[in-house]
Amino acid sequence: CGIVGYVGPQPALQVVVDGLARLEYRGYDSAGIAVLSGGRLRTEKRAGKLANLRAALEAAPPEADGIGIGHTRWATHGAPTDVNAHPHVDGDRRVAVIHNGIIENFAALRVELEERGCKFTSETDTEVAAHLLGEELKDRGDHDLAAAMRGVCRRLEGAFTLVAMEADNPDLVVAARRNSPLVVGRGDGENFLASDVAAFIAHTRDAIELGQDQVVELRPDSVRVTDYDGRPADVREYHVDWDASAAEKGGYDYFMLKEIVEQPRALADTLLGRVAADGTLTLDEMRLTPADLRETSKIVIIACGTSYHAGMIAKYAVEHWCRIPCEVEVASEFRYRDPILDRRTLVIAISQSGESMDTLMAVRYAREQGARVLAICNVNGSTIPRESDAVLYTHAGPEVGVAATKTFLTQLAACYLVGLYLAQVRGHKFGDEINTVIGQLAHMPEQVEKVLDTVDPVRALARSLADADTVLFLGRHVGYPVAMEGALKLKELAYMHAEAFAAGELKHGPIALIEDGLPVVVVVPSREGRGVLHDKIVSNIQEIRARGARTVVIAEEGDEAVRPFADELVEIPAVPTLLQPIVSTVPLQVFACELALAKGNDVDQPRNLAKSVTVE
Ligand code: G6P
Repeated sequence: CGIVGYVGPQPALQVVVDGLARLEYRGYDSAGIAVLSGGRLRTEKRAGKLANLRAALEAAPPEADGIGIGHTRWATHGAPTDVNAHPHVDGDRRVAVIHNGIIENFAALRVELEERGCKFTSETDTEVAAHLLGEELKDRGDHDLAAAMRGVCRRLEGAFTLVAMEADNPDLVVAARRNSPLVVGRGDGENFLASDVAAFIAHTRDAIELGQDQVVELRPDSVRVTDYDGRPADVREYHVDWDASAAEKGGYDYFMLKEIVEQPRALADTLLGRVAADGTLTLDEMRLTPADLRETSKIVIIACGTSYHAGMIAKYAVEHWCRIPCEVEVASEFRYRDPILDRRTLVIAISQSGESMDTLMAVRYAREQGARVLAICNVNGSTIPRESDAVLYTHAGPEVGVAATKTFLTQLAACYLVGLYLAQVRGHKFGDEINTVIGQLAHMPEQVEKVLDTVDPVRALARSLADADTVLFLGRHVGYPVAMEGALKLKELAYMHAEAFAAGELKHGPIALIEDGLPVVVVVPSREGRGVLHDKIVSNIQEIRARGARTVVIAEEGDEAVRPFADELVEIPAVPTLLQPIVSTVPLQVFACELALAKGNDVDQPRNLAKSVTVE
């Protein structure tokens, strides 16, 4: 899941292990390195956290040369054991390979290699690539590692990124990229490779984004990129606009705590510069014309996890402002149900990482069917925006905690901007409303700040519920996806059973779950404009309370109607209904985070989860 490579004069082992530490947030269950030591490959790999690998290296330190590769693995083929951890080596221990993704035809290749006499030591698909590379080099009879890598890539099916080094090539690291992310960091007399810039940001902010099916040869003073046929490839160089301190804890015990607090800034940065003096909105990379957008007859939003919840909220706003039918679907289901798509369909792909394989595959499928794709993404130059027709970047800065917080709030802001932009381009009759909402959005960072200033009682509440077995969440309208996000956060961080329901659906089944003392968190819609909804949810709160539930009510300040039925009341600022998720989500993030901490969990790296899931 995390990759680091280094060539240069610094001690490679340290650069690689430090880089892996910076990628820990991506989630992993084992880690390993390979360095060249006295002309021989030295590998070390350990199941579990990086600390295990560090301990093994300290017990028997290699005398490392200026080249090394490292990996943190999130198990797919084979359990997270020492043996299955990467790097893997060929039979002669002359090449070491690390890999992200899945090699789909590995079983057939393994049989073929075993027939050639290769002995396998692990259950992984990666080991196939190591043996193939070793055999290819033998067949070639030279040490052209890049050419051998191209040969191997042509034989592999699936989504993968491979990085390799060879004992006979003391200043070369070679990598190949298909689908899984890979960036090059350009230094002075040294170069870096990683799955994301966080791994080398302490050394350089100059990066090169690698494209699909490209092979890079990294030497201390050169970076050469070619396609699988060896032809020079076009690459995009860019400068990272944040520095190492943005990816550090800055005095907080956990990244998640820091990222929750950073939300007002992240929101403000995402909204910054979107509105011209005449009130016209702009997106970042528009390869779609206003005419394309005017002919849009349907919008389909695809995303996974927390991003999917942002999409659900966007549907309410987009349909209201643009009057275009809007569907929302989890990316992993979307392309397998034969959806109806054509050039009049606008697909909005939401992904903070820009790398979730489910979303990427859905984007590719949609484009093959002729649909236009607009991406909302937090990582500059990542795969999904590269492959889309238009992009709106969120400016949350690096998010290290696995559970999304600030990227979610900024995705909401981006979704509103897209909805307003579409309404504007299509000349919608709600012209005045659009300007009003733009103004209201500009005040949202302050409103979030207010929530953060008053959220402390939520922490005490969370600690008091640490022994609960189940927590239910209810909401209506945009509060329903917020309730889903609250439940997801609790599952991810506190490993608790948590489930969200549309409050109106309660009476059709879930109400049977209510029993004495069961905590139920209710997100109450704002009173503005939607009084009916508000009144209905007040009735729902009474229904569950009458059946013994302990009600935790999130409602806007001054909402006296809910007070008598709230065992715990969390007040949030009064904001327009459609924008309420920006403020109502925050106490739920704090709630889940604090409850998880009370249970002693690591909120930055929850068990079994990865920050960006690059397998389907
Ligand atoms: C993973 C993360 C979730 C995230 C989801 C979608 O499962 O653990 O927190 O919401 O991926 O990620 P994306 O980068 O596509 O927004």
